[in-house]
Amino acid sequence: MRLSGVVDRLFTVKRIYWVGLCAVAAVLLGQEALKYSEKLEHAPTPLPDRLILTWSGDAKTTQSMTWRTDTSVTTPVVEFAETQDGPNFAKATSKVKGMSQPFETELSVAHYHSATLTGLKAGTNYNYRVGDGVNWSEWNRFRTAGVVEEDFEFFYFGDAQTQIAEHCALLFQTAFRHAPNARFLVHAGDLINN
Ligand SMILES: [Fe+2]
Repeated sequence: MRLSGVVDRLFTVKRIYWVGLCAVAAVLLGQEALKYSEKLEHAPTPLPDRLILTWSGDAKTTQSMTWRTDTSVTTPVVEFAETQDGPNFAKATSKVKGMSQPFETELSVAHYHSATLTGLKAGTNYNYRVGDGVNWSEWNRFRTAGVVEEDFEFFYFGDAQTQIAEHCALLFQTAFRHAPNARFLVHAGDLINN
């Protein structure tokens, strides 16, 4: 093959290469995005999520909480201390062990954990976090009810039922703008569709 033939051949190969690359790009650009898997979106992990405060006793001296992890977590624990200015509260914490219960849905099997703190001081701010002793949530805060009756605000929501993440964020944002110091919320329903 003469030199000019070699050059022609190289250009031909390059053209085919570019045509191929453009075709792949067109397919990729024209393709619709894929729906992210609900199983992955809602999958539990060793890190706590869905942390909820509730009461099972006197609101002045007790505080209960629940949270979710994957099934690897079997040593649920709450760490807590009275709130101080700054982070030094973390040097004077107490720990309370929780209980675990498996819960299976169409998306996953998770462990739901619960614990109750008792012997708390009335009208007092506490910082707390939940975890397995190694992996923790962020620090959060609650306030026990005062000895003397205090006025307070709370939210009362209907049964959101379905598309909760998609639509209820707007409701929650509006509610907390309206009453930023609300002490708790009540859902008048089970928040599920079936
Ligand atoms: Fe419902």
